[in-house]
Amino acid sequence: MAAIRRIGILTSGGDCAGLNAAIRAVVLRAEHYGWDVIGIRNGNAGLFARPVEHLKLDHRNASGLLLRLGGTILGTTNKGNPFAYPMPDGSLLDRSGEVLEGYRELGLDALIVVGGDGSLEIFRRLATQGDIPMVAIPKTIDNDIGLTEVAIGHATAVSTATEALDRLQPTAASHNRVMVLEVMGRDAGHIALSTGIAGGADVILIPEIPYRLAHVAAKIEAVRKEGRNFALIVVAEAVETEKGDKVLQAQSSGQQTTLGGIGHYIADRLAELTDAETRVTVLGHVQRGGQPSARDRIMASAFGVHAVDLIAAGRFDRMVAWGSREVTDIPIAQAIARPHVVDPQDTLVRTARGLGISFGDRAA
Ligand code: F6P
Repeated sequence: MAAIRRIGILTSGGDCAGLNAAIRAVVLRAEHYGWDVIGIRNGNAGLFARPVEHLKLDHRNASGLLLRLGGTILGTTNKGNPFAYPMPDGSLLDRSGEVLEGYRELGLDALIVVGGDGSLEIFRRLATQGDIPMVAIPKTIDNDIGLTEVAIGHATAVSTATEALDRLQPTAASHNRVMVLEVMGRDAGHIALSTGIAGGADVILIPEIPYRLAHVAAKIEAVRKEGRNFALIVVAEAVETEKGDKVLQAQSSGQQTTLGGIGHYIADRLAELTDAETRVTVLGHVQRGGQPSARDRIMASAFGVHAVDLIAAGRFDRMVAWGSREVTDIPIAQAIARPHVVDPQDTLVRTARGLGISFGDRAA
């Protein structure tokens, strides 16, 4: 393989806190090797554009400020799969050739993709087709990428959602209300589970554990009998109605449906079943933006440095990962083969049950 002189980095999929910290780490480590770093703008959209949308990154524009900055300075997209690109007439076209042509225009020796499982699958396919030496960094607030305990963005999302519960509790107590907090996470309940534990929820509803409304109502009654005048419920956006229907928002984002609204369903049914006054907060994209937590900055930094070291070692088609208290790496194919959802036997599920938190699956 030719010597590395110039590498590219792009962020792809939904943004999250910590992406800029990863970009900074990549730039600083690459400069250590004497390489140029090119930031590709707007994920695959930047590679479709002509001229290709990019900028040169160095320690001047990747300073310490980036550590603290939410979002991604490179921009991102979760739309426009190049292998099935939605055309104005409704058809889907394979435009992967254009993206690869764009990549080649940049004269890069290797590419770092910071993305979730969907993006990593698409870019791995592109890398295979175009013979691109690629390394991946996992990011997603959902924390659903396989074989890594940590993905960038999850910790900040959990902190933000926990802060929301901290703010909901006093108003719930002041008004004798049941507060329902709906959080993101797509098909994984990790954000809801961690938030519910950290924020002292009475009920956590996640897609991995089917619930009965009667059990949730019984928990609310039990809380009342204990003499408490309020209750907190955290529900993950992919939780289905009792009949098994997903609750979707009217508009859809890119090529995936947009979840949202299950919190209102739960609150309305509970109001009927218990006479409780219920209110709903749908946290939405607040969980994605904002300053990254210390944990996300540290993970992003460790991942960025290791990703560059992988390139230096000529080890491609690998994703950096966190496990057993250290940064490591695994084949991308293995990481995306199976999403990491909550195992109902998970240690945190057991922790929650041990604290008396209900998942709505058992009588209170
Ligand atoms: O995957 C991250 C995520 O924030 C999910 O938790 C959520 O379902 C989805 O993205 C929202 O996507 P969009 O930004 O397109 O609304």
